[in-house]
Amino acid sequence: MKHMRTHLILMTTFIVLTASLISIPISILITKTFFNTGTQDMIVRGLTVREIITPILIIILYTFMFIIASRRAVSPFVELSNATKQIAAGNFDISIGWAHKKGGPARLARNFNLMAQELKANEFLRKDFISNVSHEFKTPLSIISGYAGLLDSEEISDKDRHEYSLTIQKESKRLIKLTSDLLSISRLDHQKIQEKAEAFRLDEQIRQAVLLLSAEWSAKNIAMEIDIPKIVYIGNEALLAQVWSNLIDNAIKFTSNDGLICIWAHAQNGVVTVKISDNGEGMSEETQSRIFEQFYQGDTSHAVEGHGLGLALVKRILDVSGGSISVTSKIGSGSNFVITLPVKESAD
Ligand SMILES: Nc1ncnc2c1ncn2[C@@H]1O[C@H](COP(=O)(O)OP(=O)(O)OP(=O)(O)O)[C@@H](O)[C@H]1O
Ligand SMILES: [Mg+2]
Repeated sequence: MKHMRTHLILMTTFIVLTASLISIPISILITKTFFNTGTQDMIVRGLTVREIITPILIIILYTFMFIIASRRAVSPFVELSNATKQIAAGNFDISIGWAHKKGGPARLARNFNLMAQELKANEFLRKDFISNVSHEFKTPLSIISGYAGLLDSEEISDKDRHEYSLTIQKESKRLIKLTSDLLSISRLDHQKIQEKAEAFRLDEQIRQAVLLLSAEWSAKNIAMEIDIPKIVYIGNEALLAQVWSNLIDNAIKFTSNDGLICIWAHAQNGVVTVKISDNGEGMSEETQSRIFEQFYQGDTSHAVEGHGLGLALVKRILDVSGGSISVTSKIGSGSNFVITLPVKESAD
């Protein structure tokens, strides 16, 4: 910032000096014209008071005009420099007023305003993220601390003791899932391409995910329809497994008893397409547009378990795998997720 100020002072001095130099021949010219005296004449007979004062006045007038003009020219930069100082101090509410004008400096100002807005939005997201994380941690931690306190009492029955211990275990598992989801998302945020790629059977991986959740869907008497041919895929096996487990877990969670979940996949033209659909509660348009945001949960989801991180994680995994995910859904009719993945080695 100091550098900029010195630069501006130097610029102003340079302009003033140039103005003075330009004004000397002009004032001589004016003096000659107005007083009708030749230069030779002036040198021979010496200068009259008028002939001395007039050029001095013209020089002062010129210098004054140039100071005003140069101040006007550098003032946008001074304003920008002060605004930059504000940004550095963490005040992102700043914007340059003359950004709508035409010309180079105005374009600079527009870009500056854009930068300030972006920084403000990022700061908001960061604060929002911290408050979400704190909130999600607070609930299980206070439950664990409450039940641990109850366990300490000697008057409780064995049945209650067992129940409290189960609750503590359940909440601890929730915390473990929350931290591992957050870690995975943060790791994937800094990863542009998938690091580990190996060939594996994608069809078997999806079936395995269904099997691992069998206790959940059997308990709700949900029917599973699976139609997947043999698909060999090259990619990060552990990462991709999380895609299926999260999507199937959601389908089970948001489908009521005796519902139906269909999983269909095929590989064609170098692309694997997987469809996971359910006839559960479905989602509104508003919910559909926000489900891939971290910590976002639809209106009815707060009643069921979760932190709103599963689909954010799924989206990031598909991004680093070069894939995509889309959803169509209707409240009361169910949801349909379509996942595409580019294949390096398709079904054989
Ligand atoms: N199959 C589905 N049917 C209806 N709503 C769904 C379905 N899948 C996702 N949603 C909606 O999208 C929201 C975000 O899903 P996401 O998987 O990210 O979070 P979650 O399941 O609530 O929690 P977590 O995955 O962290 O356990 C859900 O809360 C729900 O509102
Ligand atoms: Mg989920």
